[in-house]
Amino acid sequence: MAEALISKSNAKKLIEKLFSNADPRQHRFKSGFLRHSEATYKIAKETAIDIINHNPGLEIDPNEVAIAGYLHDIGRLLSVNQNFHEIRGALYIKNRGYEAGIAENKKDLEGLSGMVISHFIVYEEFLDKCYPGREEFSNIKASLLLPKSIEQQIIVYSDLSNLEGRETNFRERVEHIENRQKDNPHFLNAFERGKPRIIRACTGIEELRKVK
Ligand SMILES: [Fe+2]
Repeated sequence: MAEALISKSNAKKLIEKLFSNADPRQHRFKSGFLRHSEATYKIAKETAIDIINHNPGLEIDPNEVAIAGYLHDIGRLLSVNQNFHEIRGALYIKNRGYEAGIAENKKDLEGLSGMVISHFIVYEEFLDKCYPGREEFSNIKASLLLPKSIEQQIIVYSDLSNLEGRETNFRERVEHIENRQKDNPHFLNAFERGKPRIIRACTGIEELRKVK
């Protein structure tokens, strides 16, 4: 079990600090970003608890998953370029998380980083060698971007189960994203390939938490 992870209130302070250092163009997203972080935290925690209750053999730390949920989009605040924010955020947690007060030991930082790196369709975006911004991360192993553990899949599910904080079904959220990005061919290409995978991951999590 992870020990001495950042509290939710300190995670919020960290995000606020990163916002204050971020490009002013990003400031208008702040309230929606914080609502999304809070909701992803809450859904991740509740989901982990439901899964443990229904599957007593599984060892999941709800607090650790919830903190990963709170921080999953932290990479969006580290660059104006939002592409591959999953990797940017994960590397920040892994390499700078100690000074930032995210966790006290390497194992916990790696655990959180591993949950953040594989959310959404970063895997399919990365497989497209021409995807804008990819060159910055060309040394990353593609397999790290595929969520394999239940914890990683809970982050995929929790991220997609709310829209700026309003809880929603992941299928609706997926449609909403598709519509919003309809003028972004690079994104849509990756999305078309990633969509069945993320829906499968979310459906698997829904089944594990026994949502009917
Ligand atoms: Fe994200």
